[in-house]
Amino acid sequence: MRPSFTAQTMALQRAMETARPERSRLFSDPLATAFLSGPLRGAAALVRAPLLGRVAPRLYDLIWPGPRPSAVVRTRLIDDAIEAAVGDGIDQMVILGAGFDSRAWRLDTLRRARVIEIDRDETQAMKVEALRRVHAPVDSVRFVPVDFEHDDLESALRAAELDTAKPALFLWEGVTNYLTAEAVDHTLEIVRRLSAPGSTLVFTFVHSGVLDGTVKFPEADRWVRSVAKVGEPWTFGLNPADLRGYLDDRGFELLWEESTAAAGRRYFAPTGRADRASELYRVAAARVVCPG
Ligand SMILES: C[S@@+](CC[C@H](N)C(=O)[O-])C[C@H]1O[C@@H](n2cnc3c(N)ncnc32)[C@H](O)[C@@H]1O
Repeated sequence: MRPSFTAQTMALQRAMETARPERSRLFSDPLATAFLSGPLRGAAALVRAPLLGRVAPRLYDLIWPGPRPSAVVRTRLIDDAIEAAVGDGIDQMVILGAGFDSRAWRLDTLRRARVIEIDRDETQAMKVEALRRVHAPVDSVRFVPVDFEHDDLESALRAAELDTAKPALFLWEGVTNYLTAEAVDHTLEIVRRLSAPGSTLVFTFVHSGVLDGTVKFPEADRWVRSVAKVGEPWTFGLNPADLRGYLDDRGFELLWEESTAAAGRRYFAPTGRADRASELYRVAAARVVCPG
């Protein structure tokens, strides 16, 4: 299996955001371009060019309306959720399906935290190689290769010395939509079992209406087709109306949930940007209520 292309796409979208003027960007991810290869690396170079840099996001949104602003806003929303969790005293974090997430290096608030990253080995190998190339400190993070569909996440996290006596922040960003319902269930069960009281799970999901056709989102067709075309089809979604009950049944209490469209109105408007994130892409946080 090759490294995740959708994870690289996320890095490109973060690189595009980083190329924006400081006054209007929602975050800066200086490592994002290091994770890109082939045409995506070329695209990242173009967005740093003075004139093209300004039109590139608009062109990107014309071809694929929705993903870029949603990726940008979910990144910032989750950055803020991490700040809040660390502020509440959590000092260990597990990033499930981390892809090319660079928070362990770019967020000051995580400098003293223990961070464990989980992903398939091909994607992790590409990430570690890229980090070494730019001399980023790789040893500050534990990289643990796990496939959520086939591998033993619980043993892997125990072997990585997750401290199950202390609360942890689990982040599962941009991943549930690529899994089977069984793998989502099983992963939630492991998170619950390894969580001390006070542990939190922040995760994203796509509206199940996209997959079963019960809700029409104008941006959905192209988005769904483009991920399927690169071999990473969406296979799982949730109806936001059912989320509280779904989590309740699995030992989690929903803390908050919102679409990237709603979060986008809050984050983009003050910067004067007209970016429109998608209603179908959602972010949620839940508290583990039944620690094992
Ligand atoms: C869209 S990327 C998101 C990456 C990162 N969390 C982010 O938001 O930038 C999806 C990630 O999920 C990982 N993934 C998908 N299916 C997986 C599986 N069965 N086991 C482990 N990781 C998986 C991919 O390798 C990829 O890194």
